[in-house]
Amino acid sequence: MDANTVFKGLEGVIVSETKVGFVDGEAGRLVYRGFNIEELVQHSSYEEVSFLLINGHLPTASELKSYRDVIMKSSSLPSEVIDLIWAHSNKYPTSLLRTAVSLLGANDTRADHITDSDQKEIGVELVGKVPALVSSIRRAAEGGKYVKPSPDLSLAGNMLYQSTGKKPDKSSERIMDVCLMLHADHGSNASTFSSLVTISSLSDIYSALTSAIGTLKGPLHGGANEMALKLIMEVGKPENVEEVIGGKLEKKEKIMGFGHRVYKVYDPRARILKGFAREVTARNGKGQLFDTAQKIEDVMISKLGTKGIFPNVDFYSGMVYDSLGFHPDMFTSLFAASRTSGWVARSLEYVSDNKLFRPRSSYVGERGPLAYIPIEKRN
Ligand SMILES: CC(C)(COP(=O)(O)OP(=O)(O)OC[C@H]1O[C@@H](n2cnc3c(N)ncnc32)[C@H](O)[C@@H]1OP(=O)(O)O)[C@@H](O)C(=O)NCCC(=O)NCCS
Repeated sequence: MDANTVFKGLEGVIVSETKVGFVDGEAGRLVYRGFNIEELVQHSSYEEVSFLLINGHLPTASELKSYRDVIMKSSSLPSEVIDLIWAHSNKYPTSLLRTAVSLLGANDTRADHITDSDQKEIGVELVGKVPALVSSIRRAAEGGKYVKPSPDLSLAGNMLYQSTGKKPDKSSERIMDVCLMLHADHGSNASTFSSLVTISSLSDIYSALTSAIGTLKGPLHGGANEMALKLIMEVGKPENVEEVIGGKLEKKEKIMGFGHRVYKVYDPRARILKGFAREVTARNGKGQLFDTAQKIEDVMISKLGTKGIFPNVDFYSGMVYDSLGFHPDMFTSLFAASRTSGWVARSLEYVSDNKLFRPRSSYVGERGPLAYIPIEKRN
């Protein structure tokens, strides 16, 4: 291989070893620290799963209690961040979230000259803080007042409570918890890589998360569920599916919520979410939305299943978030709330055996040397 071979987008390049999580695109498996996602969703909670990702083992009862205490304490927001969110309640949620995380870092003197133990302590705090920021951003956008977290609720329950001011029913709390678990980690994606690049300069973990959120914000990464929901709404009813989807495919348009760079079979997260989407839409009188999505799935699989195109997590997650009352503008920040645990786990893992990222570019520009032209002589 030529020393100047360019791997655009680093496609296929292995940049680190990890024990945090594994995506098997051929078998349709998502694994966190050796556990299948289905097993975790059935028996666990987001608190346990985030502990597992960060610490490498499932917590004992006393470890979980201390961890929950830190999360609970962290989901109370400092006044300067509350002020920021309410002063900018009309701003795009993901941008405001990125700024709020950055402000938390600016106000934490531990971040000025960070130590390894501070990195981990702050990382765990952020697992509680980022969801609380996201909920408060929704609360402010909807014109409510800041809600303090309630100690009798899980992290997922508090996300809904801090968003709405109303204690959620058990079923909504459970669905939120499942969404958090499903999005917690997913291989070496762009935002995770951003967090590694930042932490590799021995910067602080607030900065790593600020980078990651900025990367997640782009439509090629975090935005597909919003567009998938819009598409399902646009199609409207199952009878319209053949015509609308057929027309789009004829024009070579991509159908949002289908296909994946890694999964060439049914995304395991989509399979889990689909069940919850059915339940939550039926409960909220939005059954037609689900039936339309099911029909789109049937048509897409019949036309493109042989090419390895199946629903991905984004096809059903938008519908679930919508049914939990979140505006589509909030979807990417919801993703950030749960992915925080993956970003933290992988950043801590990387920096424990650190190597500063310093790739090269192949220079294809003018080599000169050119003669300098004074400004008055340029045209
Ligand atoms: C994710 C994505 C970028 C992967 O792209 P990819 O790796 O290039 O996809 P593949 O190579 O497997 O595609 C195989 C074929 O299916 C087509 N295809 C892939 N995804 C498709 C989609 N969502 N809708 C329609 N056709 C699609 C491709 O155009 C290609 O067609 P061809 O054989 O005529 O060239 C792509 O599927 C996509 O844009 N999906 C929609 C956006 C989305 O849901 N993103 C969230 C991902 S979690």
